[in-house]
Amino acid sequence: MRYSGAAALAAALPPSVLASHHERVASRLIPGTNETLPIVGLGNSVSFRDEDLSIASKLIDVLLGQGGSYIDVGGVSRFSVGQLAREKGATDKLFLGNYLDPNDEQAMHEEARTVARGQGKDALDLVHTRDLQGYRAQIGQYRALKAAGLVRYIGVARSGQRNFDAIMKLIDDGLVDFVQINYSMLEPKAADRLLPLARDQGVAVNISRPFINGRYFGMVSGQVLPDWAAEFDCESWAQFSLKFILAHPAVNCVLTETANPAHALDNLGAGHGRLPDAATRQRMLNVMQNLV
Ligand SMILES: NC(=O)c1ccc[n+]([C@@H]2O[C@H](COP(=O)([O-])OP(=O)(O)OC[C@H]3O[C@@H](n4cnc5c(N)ncnc54)[C@H](OP(=O)(O)O)[C@@H]3O)[C@@H](O)[C@H]2O)c1
Repeated sequence: MRYSGAAALAAALPPSVLASHHERVASRLIPGTNETLPIVGLGNSVSFRDEDLSIASKLIDVLLGQGGSYIDVGGVSRFSVGQLAREKGATDKLFLGNYLDPNDEQAMHEEARTVARGQGKDALDLVHTRDLQGYRAQIGQYRALKAAGLVRYIGVARSGQRNFDAIMKLIDDGLVDFVQINYSMLEPKAADRLLPLARDQGVAVNISRPFINGRYFGMVSGQVLPDWAAEFDCESWAQFSLKFILAHPAVNCVLTETANPAHALDNLGAGHGRLPDAATRQRMLNVMQNLV
């Protein structure tokens, strides 16, 4: 069965069927470790945030069925996804990117324990924050969470080019294991300095806003996917954006937000097959420039 056919059927097919018909999403090493992370993940979907457990469960099934692992979980999603992971016996298969409220050390430890319990884990996989200044000021507390074995990786998650200098300073000062930033054909600025720096310094990079929160689909709507996209195993406009992002060697995982399991399957499909080379990436940028 061709992938695009499967995408249309995603909502109907059980995960065992989805898994049996596809390659698994590729993985990349988390710098400085022997641990790998699948290169396409899920963002903090409204289905997780609104505790729409039926759709949330399907999204997780699609992710796991394709060999994916990462889910970005903030607020109530930390518990809704955690509950579903426990029910599916999948706690060890999921890598959850958490956000904790920066509190005093004791409150942070308590919160980390509560969230880890909700996720069925001894230690949270990743804790990051959008508060760049707070992170720097409270780095001792974040490090204490790691030292206590409550958290495995720490870092920051913040989109917006205006934040890149502060994030680069955190990377330069050796304060982060992971950063999550925005990067895409339409928001390519991170490739100038931030992505090369993260690669040099051995910091893992997750990418947010691959579709600039959905606006990308409005731009490509009605456009025909270039036939040369097949040269890098790209079958949809979603994969066109994701494969551009994933072709950057500094990127560990791209986070895709959707409340539609068929879209999740489409997105995870970007994690298989070939990626565009430098000349093709330039061609892709030219396509986008003609659309804006
Ligand atoms: N920490 C930060 O500062 C920060 C900021 C922004 C984002 N983030 C993280 O990054 C994640 C993703 O970024 P984002 O929220 O900007 O969203 P995005 O992934 O760029 O775009 C999501 C939008 O694209 C649509 N979509 C997704 N896949 C599709 C497909 N295959 N075909 C058609 N439409 C599709 C979704 O609609 P459907 O639901 O209909 O599929 C939704 O409207 C977030 O969930 C969050 O975890 C973090």
